[in-house]
Amino acid sequence: MPAELIDGAAVAKKVRAEVGERCKALAARGVVPGLTVVLVGDDGGSAVYVRNKEKASHEVGMNGATIRMPATTTQTELLAVVDRLNADKAVHGILVQMPLPKQIDPQAVIRRIAAAKDVDGFHPVNVGKVLIGERDGFAPCTPAGVQVLLQEYGVETAGKHVVIIGRSNIVGKPMAALLVQPGPGGDATVTICHSKTPDLAWHTKRADIVIAAVGRPGTVTGEMLKPGAVVIDVGTTRIVDPSAKSGMRLMGDVDFASVSQVASKVTPVPGGVGPMTIAMLLRNTVRAAEQAS
Ligand code: GUN
Repeated sequence: MPAELIDGAAVAKKVRAEVGERCKALAARGVVPGLTVVLVGDDGGSAVYVRNKEKASHEVGMNGATIRMPATTTQTELLAVVDRLNADKAVHGILVQMPLPKQIDPQAVIRRIAAAKDVDGFHPVNVGKVLIGERDGFAPCTPAGVQVLLQEYGVETAGKHVVIIGRSNIVGKPMAALLVQPGPGGDATVTICHSKTPDLAWHTKRADIVIAAVGRPGTVTGEMLKPGAVVIDVGTTRIVDPSAKSGMRLMGDVDFASVSQVASKVTPVPGGVGPMTIAMLLRNTVRAAEQAS
């Protein structure tokens, strides 16, 4: 039987509706949650993501704004913008879109953002809080969205073996931190595989849940899975496709045709994890506003 599709767009809609209700409750107290995204340079993919974030924030009743800066921006200039946003009481969430041009050290920028406004969950204080399990910290949006997807589809994680492929600070590492945490959506046994793992299939064949986050299409195929495994595809490689309206197409890390014959549930690309990332950003932002007021 082919795998059930995990509909990220539908779950994201539900999360956005909940965020919208929380925005209304804040508005009744005279608070409009503010999310400011900073985009440096003209990376095509980043520009699309940033536009989508601003649009989604308006739809739930937030003050969404985007600051666009040229690719030649210096680190000093960007840090000055972050300082101004940190001091602005109408701004509850700050997101500096990655990647940044090479003259700017991303860690210096991330550390400059006030931890209470770091709705990306990238600041070391929030990274630490997620690892400790302190609930007032912000978890990075993509792994937090994956955890919600698993819960919404009734995928048990307690006592299950999850294999994460990829060890990035944005997805792989925080994903492991969330899944090993005691409590709902956690209590898993987690293996992190990466580019130096010798026999990836040896690990994935022993997984109840496989989460692929490497940015390399075709990384996971059906024959690498235990029958009935749940497969989450975090990959978003943009490839040129003249038949697509935008001329580009997104490809996940998973070979969907073979995986969907072996897995019990699988996320599509697009329409799986992607919509959850923005929904979780909005959820982090409304909580930042609640915690600040
Ligand atoms: N670039 C790709 N994903 C992300 C994200 O979640 N946050 C930021 N700031 N930049 C990104």
